[in-house]
Amino acid sequence: KPSIAILTSGGDAPGMNAAVRAAVRAGLNADVDVYGVRCGYQGLIDDDFIPMDAKSVSHIINQGGTTLLSARCEDFRTEAGRATAAENLKKRNIKGLVVIGGDGSFTGALKIAQEHGISVVGVPATIDNDIYGTDFTIGFDTAVNTVMEAVDKIDDTAESHNRLFFIEVMGRDAGFIALHAGMASGCSEILIPEEETDVKYLVSRLNDLHSRGKRSMIVMVAEGDQCGGVFKLARQTEDALKDMQVRVTVLGHLQRGGSPTCADRVLACRLGVAAVEKLLQGVGGVMVGTRNQQVVTTSLAEAIEKKSKPDEDMIRVAHTITY
Ligand code: F6P
Repeated sequence: KPSIAILTSGGDAPGMNAAVRAAVRAGLNADVDVYGVRCGYQGLIDDDFIPMDAKSVSHIINQGGTTLLSARCEDFRTEAGRATAAENLKKRNIKGLVVIGGDGSFTGALKIAQEHGISVVGVPATIDNDIYGTDFTIGFDTAVNTVMEAVDKIDDTAESHNRLFFIEVMGRDAGFIALHAGMASGCSEILIPEEETDVKYLVSRLNDLHSRGKRSMIVMVAEGDQCGGVFKLARQTEDALKDMQVRVTVLGHLQRGGSPTCADRVLACRLGVAAVEKLLQGVGGVMVGTRNQQVVTTSLAEAIEKKSKPDEDMIRVAHTITY
């Protein structure tokens, strides 16, 4: 009987469980033995495999985090680590591996495929949305909704106190979270790494808005923005911002948690099934994603190498309506 294994790797993202569930069920329905690997690549090396049945994934579609657990695994970066991992797969006759994670995870996936002939299909799951080959990654929609709700709350207190808030959001070196959540929560400015940040211009614009009667303001700052961090930005601007008290909020890891939204669950179901179907068709070395609502595949090499950038028109619209 053919066997496949499924793992989640790198930073967890809401919807990973839904993707695992979909992949497990798709495998079992095709009469394949399915193993879950705990703690990502670390579990491959440590031989931490669990046989999965349909019940192993019951009631997890709505759970945040990853029940298979995850890790950023240093050992898998070494040839020796990958060789041990491949041995553990081969002794169970596992020829296909589903890797649910971000681009760091796909780099490892491509290596074990090239070095040991393991068929790997990647499923893009990261709150950052920074993966080429898909319109959206699993977890992004939940994260931006979490950020939007948090900013709405901060807005209540900002308005009551005539304050300016700099709010830092995650995204590593990409600005998708800041751009989408910043637009959706009506921020006064949105700073993303894909654009240059002119601090002088920012100050004059915020002062101008204030002098036109705007009491409170929120500036959304992507963690990867070139301004050098939200605290530095606050220090640099505090004195120049007239009559406004400045506060800083770093939303941090709360952006990674929570029950996945409907959009993330549906995306995860589609991509989890597609990944297993590809493996069973003998297709490996690819990532599944969606473009214009359709499931598509991209080679892992291309997905890793190419950069995904926020849509230019989206950036233009965001700046057009910030106030
Ligand atoms: O890639 C997801 C992410 O949450 C990034 O947005 C962030 O920069 C990073 O992971 C944080 O990593 P860690 O949880 O290891 O601190």
